[in-house]
Amino acid sequence: MARRHLRRRTDEHGTDPDGPGGGHGSGPYGLGPHGPGGHGGDPYAAPQAAPAIELRGVRRTYGRGEGTVQALRGIDLALARGSFTAVMGPSGSGKSTFLQCAAGLDRPDAGEIRLGGEEITALSENRLTELRRSRIGFVFQSFNLLPSLSVEQNVLLPQRLAGERQDRARARDLLERVGLGQHARRRPGHLSGGQQQRVAIARALITRPDVVFADEPTGALDTRTAHEVLGLLRQAVDSLGATVVMVTHDPVAASFADRALFLAGGAIVDDLPHPSPQTVADRMVALTARPVGAAA
Ligand SMILES: Nc1ncnc2c1ncn2[C@@H]1O[C@H](COP(=O)(O)OP(=O)(O)OP(=O)(O)O)[C@@H](O)[C@H]1O
Ligand SMILES: [Mg+2]
Repeated sequence: MARRHLRRRTDEHGTDPDGPGGGHGSGPYGLGPHGPGGHGGDPYAAPQAAPAIELRGVRRTYGRGEGTVQALRGIDLALARGSFTAVMGPSGSGKSTFLQCAAGLDRPDAGEIRLGGEEITALSENRLTELRRSRIGFVFQSFNLLPSLSVEQNVLLPQRLAGERQDRARARDLLERVGLGQHARRRPGHLSGGQQQRVAIARALITRPDVVFADEPTGALDTRTAHEVLGLLRQAVDSLGATVVMVTHDPVAASFADRALFLAGGAIVDDLPHPSPQTVADRMVALTARPVGAAA
């Protein structure tokens, strides 16, 4: 029952047809009087929201001397709120490094990353941890639920860790949205893989994060279950105004996104709007035929 037809394109930066989607706009990262956006024009127009996430000249190098690997070679990218982006590329192209840097789990060697308008690259480790807990959602291939907590407690965990009030009504609502309203009191171990991933999606959304990062979220699921999970990520974007960045190897998964970015040799070499499984597969074939590191 994949709901692929609920798409609503939100390619234009800052457009937000429903106003502050799910409570985003008025959050703690609201814009100052000189809010970015830079569209000029009508001085009475509502200020443009900052991109959910923005990377400028982001570089990450591993190792030294002979063994140096340039995992990211200068990534420039801005993702609008309420957008769904797939990140693709051959093995070793830098997808995980990109995700880790963008999510504040790793620090770039150069460049800037802004989350909801706030520069995060210079933050202290403690501040970065706080920020990850409250302003970033994660969905992993392996679900990463805590087996000793109930489904609802798992969903509430980010708020608990962030020291925020645990919003049980929101947890219940999110569990309803992902079709698990009946299972709030169960343990994750009693759920199927697809159900566990749906819990993880609810958990990723509980704090109304600036960005949800999903790393191969369907890698451990069968095709039908994968479609359900992708449909839920799509719905989180369309009906809750979430911003999703998903690393995937699967062209069908990428086709749920508004946009597919292709990495090769640590650089963005392609940017495909409205990806279809076929167009994505064609790009991937072209990329893997090209020597890694060659420019687009
Ligand atoms: N901790 C590390 N130390 C040294 N090199 C690393 C490290 N992590 C990644 N690399 C190198 O950086 C490059 C990018 O790796 P990355 O894991 O980001 O690729 P990927 O696109 O996620 O690949 P895959 O599809 O296989 O997961 C690769 O050449 C990899 O070998
Ligand atoms: Mg990887």
